[in-house]
Amino acid sequence: MSERHTDFFPADLQNQLNGRFYFLNHDVYGIQRLFFENAGGSLRLKSAVEAQTRYSAFPDCPERNHDVALDIRNVIDKGTEDIRLFLNAQSGSIATSLTASKLMFEIITTVAASKPEGNLVTTAIEHPSSYDACQFAAEQYQHELRVAAADPVSGSIPLSNILELIDEQTVLVSVILTSNITGAMHDIKEYAKKIKEKNPDTVIVVDAVQGAPHGVIDVEDWEIDALNIAPYKMFGNRGIGYAYLSDRIASLPHHRLLATASDNWHVGSPTPSHFAGFTEIINYICDIGSYYNASKDRRTLIVEGMEHIHQQEQAILHRFINGSAEATGIKNLPGVTIHFEQANNINQDLILALTFDNMSCSEAVKKYGEHNILVYARESTSHYSKRILEAIGLDAIVRVSPLHCHTKQDVDTFLQVTQTILSEASITV
Ligand SMILES: Cc1ncc(COP(=O)(O)O)c(C=O)c1O
Repeated sequence: MSERHTDFFPADLQNQLNGRFYFLNHDVYGIQRLFFENAGGSLRLKSAVEAQTRYSAFPDCPERNHDVALDIRNVIDKGTEDIRLFLNAQSGSIATSLTASKLMFEIITTVAASKPEGNLVTTAIEHPSSYDACQFAAEQYQHELRVAAADPVSGSIPLSNILELIDEQTVLVSVILTSNITGAMHDIKEYAKKIKEKNPDTVIVVDAVQGAPHGVIDVEDWEIDALNIAPYKMFGNRGIGYAYLSDRIASLPHHRLLATASDNWHVGSPTPSHFAGFTEIINYICDIGSYYNASKDRRTLIVEGMEHIHQQEQAILHRFINGSAEATGIKNLPGVTIHFEQANNINQDLILALTFDNMSCSEAVKKYGEHNILVYARESTSHYSKRILEAIGLDAIVRVSPLHCHTKQDVDTFLQVTQTILSEASITV
């Protein structure tokens, strides 16, 4: 699909979508607010929260044969089907766990245990859930841990930095789809292809928690072995993570109730309300797809919906950086630096990483808060950020992470507030 940076949603679609989220324009106290912290947990769809609440009230066990139990089982089956459609997982297994992090640990330790005394390749900008899982598994199963270096200019991991670490002993490569700190997106299809050319036996594990709400995922086409997502980052609730496992790793010895199939990764009884919530997320994406495409095929509508979400977010990103007749873009505001700009508009998620000449990042976050805009400072004092910031040569950034449902006006408000904050900071220096 061609990408034009002015391709915002048409106004009627935008209005429909905005009514579908809780707390889009105000916080829980009713105070007006712009929620630009979606990388920390995204705005929630009303329909997803409501479906989850409805099914949470049912006492019935899905493993029975009465009418309500059968209905609930259908909800689980439909939710599982929707996870598969969202990921385009035509084979393999779907795993669930309380968090996406827990799934990463399960997957990486399982793969690492299957072939000890090789090497595990991870990257310097992985989230701790995959990085620490690789470190843990390397220590447990006598693997060498190899870490691909980041390019500080783009905030991404160049493919060559991964390839140079791969040899016949490489058991697993773990690479993030989209960085939750720099916003850099990796072309996983291309990465997986080149990794397998060097070693076809290497298992490829992808953290898609940040990338999932912003673009199309296609595990079939990408030919990877594992990928995880977290609904609370993609318009749904906390309390569940999902993962895909390819046929070649799904039956490796792993934590499993032994009476179940060898490729079963649900340990214990599934929670119907989570699946009901996920189906509503997919319904929402399909509704966006239906605006542009008359198909009745659910995967087609998911792809269409996600492509338009991506396009809207690229338009938002472009306006943040370059501005418009209404407001000066960040690039042209003296006193603020936008990092990884080189990658912006090429392979960049809707994340702005900012630093200020005359203000610390935490001061800037406070100032935005005084103007009713919620953003977040990623600082090296946090173990979630330290290694990643060091890898890209920064001590802290202000992370601005809006969502596709935000508008041109929201961008302009942010830019005008930024200008005000900058002029206040230059006066106090
Ligand atoms: C890129 C990425 N991966 C993994 C995770 C882990 O998610 P959770 O803490 O829900 O397990 C996060 C959470 O912030 C993330 O941003």
